[in-house]
Amino acid sequence: MLILGFLGSPRLKGKCSRLLDSALEGAASSGATIKKIELVKKDIRHCMGCSKCIHDDPALKVGRCPIKDDMASLLEEYINADGYIFASPVYDLCITSLMKKFLERKFPLTYRPKEAYATIGAARAPADFKKSAAMIVTGNCADEYQELMGDPCFEAMGSHLIIEQVMTTDKLYVGGVENMTDETFAERLDTAHRMGARLVEEIARAH
Ligand SMILES: Cc1cc2nc3c(=O)[nH]c(=O)nc-3n(C[C@H](O)[C@H](O)[C@H](O)COP(=O)(O)O)c2cc1C
Repeated sequence: MLILGFLGSPRLKGKCSRLLDSALEGAASSGATIKKIELVKKDIRHCMGCSKCIHDDPALKVGRCPIKDDMASLLEEYINADGYIFASPVYDLCITSLMKKFLERKFPLTYRPKEAYATIGAARAPADFKKSAAMIVTGNCADEYQELMGDPCFEAMGSHLIIEQVMTTDKLYVGGVENMTDETFAERLDTAHRMGARLVEEIARAH
């Protein structure tokens, strides 16, 4: 079983990254192969809105995008994985633009006939709830602000998963990160670790 962890923080040694590492270690402790993808190191350009990918040949598992960057290989890895952990800090009450840019470029995973105006597209390769995802959000605002700070991020990261038919197992908001004691942060790392382990157990159960 392969679990991919996507880091939406530009700070590779920051709190968000460390929580993602812990969740991935938890997944590994339950027997998964893990891979961390630091989005800031990838060449991911803005979606230019041409919609060629979504209308491309329905037999394709990934519609073709005219932009030649790292997204084609990332989407190939994405469809071959069994589960995902998305991790992003809150920036301006939502996920980072880095994570958003990546999520928008998952558009080729959907197919919609040109004439099917005003309808929602369908997954090209529906995961049928045999794949699952977990999400981590870090913010400077304390845990009590999860609804304002964390929830919009969970919605943004989870919206396309509904089309893909990928189930979400856990959502972890870690608030107050900038002035958190080492002891408290260690507890949150443990929570992330358990979350990663549970993700793998859920996927195994679905198969
Ligand atoms: C541009 C910017 C915007 C931010 N906006 C928010 C915000 O709206 N709410 C919040 O709780 N924290 C906000 N923060 C704090 C970050 O969420 C926090 O520093 C981050 O989660 C720490 O993760 P990191 O160690 O990976 O950088 C912001 C930080 C930056 C740099």
